[in-house]
Amino acid sequence: MGCLRLFNGRFKTKRSKRRPLATAPAPAPAASAEARSMASAAAASCASFASSANVSETSASGSGSASSARSIPELYEERGALREFGLRELRVATRDFSPLLMVGEGGFGCVYRGVLRLPGSTPVAVKRLNLNGRQGHKEWLAEVHFLGVVEHRNLVKLIGYCASQTDRGPQRLLVYEFMPNKTLDDHLFNRAYPVLPWEVRLQIALGAAEGLLYLHEGLELQIIYRDFKASNVLLDEEFRPKLSDFGLAREGPSEGQTHVSTAVMGTFGYAAPDYVRTGHLTTKSDVWSFGVVLYEILTARRSIERNRPKNEQKLLDWVRRHPPESDQLGQIMDPRLQGRYPTRGAAEVARLANGCLAKLGSNRPTMREVVEGLRRAMRHTEMDGFVVVAGAATEYQGSPPRAEEEAPGTPGAEDASAVAMAAEARKRRMLHLAALGNAADAHARRRLMLMTAAAAAPT
Ligand SMILES: Nc1ncnc2c1ncn2[C@@H]1O[C@H](COP(=O)(O)OP(=O)(O)OP(=O)(O)O)[C@@H](O)[C@H]1O
Ligand SMILES: [Mg+2]
Repeated sequence: MGCLRLFNGRFKTKRSKRRPLATAPAPAPAASAEARSMASAAAASCASFASSANVSETSASGSGSASSARSIPELYEERGALREFGLRELRVATRDFSPLLMVGEGGFGCVYRGVLRLPGSTPVAVKRLNLNGRQGHKEWLAEVHFLGVVEHRNLVKLIGYCASQTDRGPQRLLVYEFMPNKTLDDHLFNRAYPVLPWEVRLQIALGAAEGLLYLHEGLELQIIYRDFKASNVLLDEEFRPKLSDFGLAREGPSEGQTHVSTAVMGTFGYAAPDYVRTGHLTTKSDVWSFGVVLYEILTARRSIERNRPKNEQKLLDWVRRHPPESDQLGQIMDPRLQGRYPTRGAAEVARLANGCLAKLGSNRPTMREVVEGLRRAMRHTEMDGFVVVAGAATEYQGSPPRAEEEAPGTPGAEDASAVAMAAEARKRRMLHLAALGNAADAHARRRLMLMTAAAAAPT
């Protein structure tokens, strides 16, 4: 993905790594000597972790969070049930980090598919910090702390971590539950995948919104995620979404305060303009990013696409010219849907997205309101959308998918039976996806028939 990352308001390419946030990890059960020594340092650094951003003293109305006596590292110490892995164990699990098992790469480093032998045989994703990158220990630590505390069906599960020292320097790894269906980004923008049916798109949006709502309101302290984008929405075997990547997450402001003042970080195209301008971070910054992704879901266009005509490169500028109240909304809808979406539902989602993209954070809805809005939009099921006539819409001729994107989750090619099994599994997943779409269509048809029958019934 060619998106840019924001660093202190400056843009750098995604491969540039994000700035670390903290200095040392909190203790975990059965920690190694190194982890234990880092853990004791963690106690000292807890305070700096919690308050490494200056918290605003302003009292203007805004999104003050519930006061919290305990910070994330403190909660982590209390709840932390993460497993500590040895490097050797993860080497075995990933066949020595075989490039053939690599399932992706982000700003943090490469992600490998692996299998943990004990107990049972558990598929995992192992993320290995790139030692040459600028994203580093502090983001690794933030991920351990936050994911060690949160627990929600729409947040990826961190199973454990590895912190060890080798001849080649410190090694930092994260071990997650394996998510077999890649990311929302892949399914929206990579044409190697079948079209995501409308109903599945809404379910993904709703699940992701519930994940954010939990972070904003479901814990004794508020968490601002700060990196909401389609590539951070992982999909499980049933296409249920889970948010990943907590390296940029922050504790929200404490009681009486409206925002956290912090260095500007996030991904270009998704970060709220008020946050970029002022460095004032609130939950409404996440709401803005959510609005951007809602429009990506409607249009299957990325927030920024440089290879489009000039007036269509910025998604938000383009969609603004096709407001939901007008009959032009159909023109921005993903042409691959071929009209298989409810016009009223789509308009409702677009209106919701516009609310999320309000200039002033205080005018944006809360994630609770967003969840309610999405539930309302889901009630419209009549697939009466605008059908794109061949050639009428400017079809995006994106670059072909990279080899590893064409075979999501494919294990080593040297292992022919594993490859065949993976291909079979992929085929099953794709059929399942198609079935989800058919089910959505069938449901809509049934509703339409009922409505027609009701309309025809004598009064
Ligand atoms: N738990 C997981 N299960 C399966 N695949 C995963 C998992 N976590 C990450 N991946 C894969 O690895 C890829 C890279 O993920 P990563 O979060 O490192 O980068 P990214 O989200 O693409 O970019 P960024 O660094 O900007 O967040 C993802 O796109 C996904 O395909
Ligand atoms: Mg990511």
